[in-house]
Amino acid sequence: QLELIQLDDPAAAAQLAAKRLLEARSEGPQLPLGLATGRTMEPVYAALVSLIHAQPEADRRAVLRNWLSFNLDDYVGLSPADPRSFAAFMASRLVQPLGLVSERVRLPDALAPDPAAEARRYAAELARNGGIGLQLLGLGLNGHVGFNEPPCAADAPCRCVELSAMTRRQNAAAFGGDPLAVPHRAISLGMAEILAARRILLVVTGVAKAPVLRRLLTESPSAALPGSWLRQHPCVTVLADRAALTGA
Ligand code: GLP
Repeated sequence: QLELIQLDDPAAAAQLAAKRLLEARSEGPQLPLGLATGRTMEPVYAALVSLIHAQPEADRRAVLRNWLSFNLDDYVGLSPADPRSFAAFMASRLVQPLGLVSERVRLPDALAPDPAAEARRYAAELARNGGIGLQLLGLGLNGHVGFNEPPCAADAPCRCVELSAMTRRQNAAAFGGDPLAVPHRAISLGMAEILAARRILLVVTGVAKAPVLRRLLTESPSAALPGSWLRQHPCVTVLADRAALTGA
């Protein structure tokens, strides 16, 4: 069930991920794409934008017209105008370069007065649209996917989560290097919505991810490593570069 593809470097992994995403947006009746943020995804979106721009005019228009994606997560309390928000990440990497209608690239509303209610609303909106077709995922150093921090059950729904110290350190670069400046909470799709995706594409690059990727590929699925639940999904492809796979 789990297909593992080794690529030479992050650029090659990004190229293949972009190709798969565009194929998913170009096939027949479509379910929404599930999208992720983070450093791993920067070259993925750059490659996707180039691929779409290189398409014949009519194909490109069709892809853009039919676009619908749901992002995994965003930090509670950050405005979409805040460059550190995932909404701003998507605006600068995808919406603006492609000229997409921003409502077609959905994220949870990080400014909602009641984040728990917003998580339920976001999950319901996703369900109304049929759930995720192809889900793009990165992997946290502690094994999180989306912001599903360990321990996390396989049936955890979309919700407001508390971020771990490790995750706040991992993502501190965007906050001037200060983990204390990273918001404590996020709204994240749960393992339930992620595992309900028809297909999953996990992209893992860089030597720092080697230990967690090794665990994901070898340990039996458990709450201790949320990403390990992916091994119970019938259709998962892991794109990993040599550094992430070999640790060298
Ligand atoms: C972040 C995000 C995830 C992302 C992961 C890896 O915190 N919530 O969606 O995939 O951690 O991030 P990076 O690609 O920067 O290593």
